[in-house]
Amino acid sequence: MDSHVFLIRRDTATPWWFISLAFVGAAYVAAIALRLLAYLALCLRRLPMDDLRRRYGEWAVVTGPTSGIGRAMALELARRGLNLVLVGRDPAILREVSGKVRSLHGVKTKTVVFDLSLVSTPHGDEAMRRLREAVEGLDVGVVVNNAGVAKPGAVYLHEADVEAWVRMVRVNVSAVTEVTAAVLPGMVARGRGGAVVNIGSAASESIPSLPLYTMYAATKRYVAQFSRSLHVEYASKGIHVQCQAPFFVETRLMFRFEEAAGGVSLFTVTPDAYARAAVAWIGRGGALCTPGVRHQLLRRMATAVPESVHDWILLRLTTWNRKRCFSGSE
Ligand SMILES: NC(=O)c1ccc[n+]([C@@H]2O[C@H](COP(=O)([O-])OP(=O)(O)OC[C@H]3O[C@@H](n4cnc5c(N)ncnc54)[C@H](OP(=O)(O)O)[C@@H]3O)[C@@H](O)[C@H]2O)c1
Repeated sequence: MDSHVFLIRRDTATPWWFISLAFVGAAYVAAIALRLLAYLALCLRRLPMDDLRRRYGEWAVVTGPTSGIGRAMALELARRGLNLVLVGRDPAILREVSGKVRSLHGVKTKTVVFDLSLVSTPHGDEAMRRLREAVEGLDVGVVVNNAGVAKPGAVYLHEADVEAWVRMVRVNVSAVTEVTAAVLPGMVARGRGGAVVNIGSAASESIPSLPLYTMYAATKRYVAQFSRSLHVEYASKGIHVQCQAPFFVETRLMFRFEEAAGGVSLFTVTPDAYARAAVAWIGRGGALCTPGVRHQLLRRMATAVPESVHDWILLRLTTWNRKRCFSGSE
């Protein structure tokens, strides 16, 4: 009789593998919930306006502040009380941005005229020397490597002008590396840490491919890996290196997915909205991050889609963009 009862109990007992799987599942759900909570806290937290200045230093360097995201980030950093070293290739627009920053926010500015597509050439070396001189002795706590180009875009690799690629690689890869290397010695010597923000792209972080924009996506992959490794390398010195990877920001550079996809503008944000989120994430969002609620949501959705589906959709969208460019409507 006893043995009969025992057998029945054994038959109905929950198997060990089921319990183990339930534990793993619960731990996974808890980890996602914690990440979401941490993310919400990051979005909702209101930081003191002088937070970056107090934490890292009085000056920030911004590349490509003459348009789009860079211009909006320069203004947002100045609103938070940081003096700015503005690095761009057009002296007139640099002067205009510099004047606007000073009159709106009462901070100090310096400008360095630098065509970043000349990095690693004799002209570029001369401009890099001027940039080093400009930051020497300044308490530079934040660097935003924002300047970037997507041209040549919407072309097959064999069609693209090699000179144009070389310029893209210099701006998107070499300049990010050299500007970072130019400011790091000062940050290390001062010993109060710092933040290096490299603007990457969702094109390399959240989607598996970007056909016809292959070189652009590849350069942005470099930015992500460069930032990720440097983050580890300099963590012990209090220097927080971060790659911020936006999706769609309404600028000259933005690939018009929304038009291609039939006018879905839900996930496109203005440069000002992006800059507010991006600056709030400096030093906080992890080594690879996507600031902003809408872009964060898009990132979560993108990772749930199978790669083959992504590839199929993206090839159609970029081919649409290619036809549009070649028909002269761009
Ligand atoms: N917009 C988006 O949806 C999006 C998405 C993902 C990533 N991004 C990234 O965001 C960053 C900013 O782009 P954006 O969207 O704001 O585009 P944008 O409006 O075209 O701004 C690009 C900035 O980079 C500067 N720049 C380009 N080539 C340069 C050179 N040779 N020397 C010096 N400066 C140069 C531009 O200066 P000029 O004014 O002189 O041309 C401009 O200030 C880029 O790194 C881009 O890859 C943008």
